[in-house]
Amino acid sequence: MTASAADPKSFSTAIGRWAGVGPYYAMFPVDFAFQVIRDYTDEGESIIDPFAGRASSVYAASVQGRRGFGVEINPVGWVYAQAKLSPGNPEYVIRRIKQIMGYAMDEKNLNMDSLPEFFSWCYAGDVLKFLLSARQRLNWATSSTDATVMALILVYLHGKRDQSLSNQMRQGKAMSPEYSVRWWQENGMLPPAVDPVDFLVKRVEWRYAKGLPSLTASRVVMGDSTQVIRRLRVHDRSCSTQQYKLLFTSPPYYGVTNYYYDQWLRLWMLGSSSLPVYGESKWKRRFDNRIFYKELLSAVFGGCAPHMTPDAIIYVRTDAREFTLQTTLEVLQEAFPNKKVDIQLRPLAKKTQTALFGDSSAKPGEVDIILTPA
Ligand SMILES: C[S@@+](CC[C@H](N)C(=O)[O-])C[C@H]1O[C@@H](n2cnc3c(N)ncnc32)[C@H](O)[C@@H]1O
Repeated sequence: MTASAADPKSFSTAIGRWAGVGPYYAMFPVDFAFQVIRDYTDEGESIIDPFAGRASSVYAASVQGRRGFGVEINPVGWVYAQAKLSPGNPEYVIRRIKQIMGYAMDEKNLNMDSLPEFFSWCYAGDVLKFLLSARQRLNWATSSTDATVMALILVYLHGKRDQSLSNQMRQGKAMSPEYSVRWWQENGMLPPAVDPVDFLVKRVEWRYAKGLPSLTASRVVMGDSTQVIRRLRVHDRSCSTQQYKLLFTSPPYYGVTNYYYDQWLRLWMLGSSSLPVYGESKWKRRFDNRIFYKELLSAVFGGCAPHMTPDAIIYVRTDAREFTLQTTLEVLQEAFPNKKVDIQLRPLAKKTQTALFGDSSAKPGEVDIILTPA
């Protein structure tokens, strides 16, 4: 079976096992990402995703013989992307997990006492020591081994009691600390006594058991795409033929989430605050301020336009709610004035990206906007 024919949802292939890294809000269903790449590009062509999330699009391109380039501002998505696109050697990954536990046992300054009560309800003592040590020691931004270890910790950081390192919690979204503690107390649920090394090593072995997918050189940059795209010319001087045949992305949906509050526990693991913060900085406000939101889309899609091939396809999945849809359409038509626009509503019967995470609130579903050469 060739890489392009492999079923990305099947756990019996390396492609399928790595495609699942990791839980992320509003991610593309993997088979959809694989299909779009196959339908709109040929092997050897390049794609760009300026809102890459957990890099479903870039990964689908890379394992199917295309080149992918992505940008993601949220370090949780970026760490997953690193693990998928540049997985560490499994021996080093396992050795590093054991090393981290060794440090945890020796560590004098893990500062467990300064953590909010939530943490001692969420994690058993050894797990918490391991997590604090990993948080201090892993150089996830610069080392592929450490990024792989961190990505796998993030995958299992919270979820069902017997399938994660934590007390009972949803896997996709971290609940608020007060709510969680109250719930655990009311239900008499103490944190599960998990051996973090044993737990993680088994999961590393499972992840690598079918080998590694064959990857075409691809990458995701961690940063704000309004700035990274502006600097693209400089980035790509070494590779002047890089022109993208497909822009395949899903921007943040206006007013739905800022990807920060819901991921506060994974972000804590990556060095952020030990309490969820909504965030007032401009890039976070772009998700709930109409002017900033439009500016974000204009800067990003307008910035990508000069880097696309003349026959490029633009494939954008977004929310069907009026403001997001109208703004996205308007911005895309300004950025790509000579393309034909096709709009495909994704009926509600089909699972939405957010419904995959248990978000069952009433919504008009999603929509695919596809721009092709006129
Ligand atoms: C709908 S999600 C994309 C999910 C992705 N398609 C996947 O399969 O994982 C939108 C993403 O855009 C990211 N984002 C928002 N503003 C950004 C910016 N200025 N630069 C880069 N990424 C940004 C968010 O962090 C979020 O991960």
